[in-house]
Amino acid sequence: AQIQKGRFAHFMIKEAFDQPESVVNTMRGRVNFNDYRVVLGGLRSQLANIRRSRRIIFSACGTSFHSCVAVKSIFAELTEMPISVELSSSFLDEQLPIFRDDVCIFVSQSGETKDTLLALEYCKERGALCVGVTNTVGSTISRETHCGVHINAGPEISVASTKAYSSQFIALTMIALQLSDDNMQKVARRTEIINGLYRLSDDLRKTLELEPQIKQVAEQLKTARNLIVIGRGYQSATCLEGALKIKEVTYIHAEGILAGELKHGPLALIEASMPIILIMPKDRHYSDSENALKQITARMGKPIVIASAEDTSPLFNDLQTLRVPQTVDALQPLVNIVPLQLLSYYLAVARGIDPDSPRNLAKSVTTA
Ligand code: G6P
Repeated sequence: AQIQKGRFAHFMIKEAFDQPESVVNTMRGRVNFNDYRVVLGGLRSQLANIRRSRRIIFSACGTSFHSCVAVKSIFAELTEMPISVELSSSFLDEQLPIFRDDVCIFVSQSGETKDTLLALEYCKERGALCVGVTNTVGSTISRETHCGVHINAGPEISVASTKAYSSQFIALTMIALQLSDDNMQKVARRTEIINGLYRLSDDLRKTLELEPQIKQVAEQLKTARNLIVIGRGYQSATCLEGALKIKEVTYIHAEGILAGELKHGPLALIEASMPIILIMPKDRHYSDSENALKQITARMGKPIVIASAEDTSPLFNDLQTLRVPQTVDALQPLVNIVPLQLLSYYLAVARGIDPDSPRNLAKSVTTA
């Protein structure tokens, strides 16, 4: 195991640093950057059926669930289909109505998560077309689904998922690109996204260069008891996933808060001593994010802002910023999650926790 970790002390940080490569492996042979086409061999036989379906339902647990949340809006935009994202346990709890003309996409790194498997059985029994997106060839979920996509992220050892998240995100985005490639009105949008995918590896490499700065932030925050991560739009999932990473490996109570909900409760938490991370990319939600920032600073909150490298806003003058490369809005979450992965890792280390095996958690939860 020591050898596999190479120069890294833990698998979690090694796997976070794998991402510039693992994302390329996910796209290899599937995204053609010359003719802007995406072809996923595993879906070909069912493509017509998927296009003909009436809605798409994603289901997963944990980080895999967040990858579904992260792509929901781009999936809806490209496919123009109703999309819902459900925690796998909700299927059974809520006995959700599922029909023969539904497509259900099950996302699981291990392909063995019990709740996701139970949701799959539930949907299969009701005649839905079931698609698996896993990182494990031959896993139960890849065998039990009608068709699927392997994310090719390579083995993920750390309990806290990093590279599987980015590869799941890309695999799901590729599905949406392929499903929409008969829609000529989406050509410009698809081209923009595919160009963003082409640059992604470099963008991730640049983002990982934040490591020394993030180590310092971790020193600053290591005694924190709470931490909130705020953002909106494309970054909603980044908030949830960033907070989950922090919970999992640092044991700090962390919450992902959607900026649009601030005034409906979470604003009451804001005070000078509350550690806050605000995710604020230059996208169409920017002015809403500015509002959120003003609401926070008016209550003496001093957020650390994950901002675009190009953003010269004077609002950041008294604030710490983590500057990330700017990419296409729908892909920006892939970049913005990286500082949060690194922060949770360095917080764990600063707090004396082994991030590869946090207490009470298992890599793969095979019981319901
Ligand atoms: C466990 C792991 C998480 C993972 C979740 C779903 O809770 O600790 O890291 O996100 O299971 O696992 P899966 O293999 O289905 O993606």
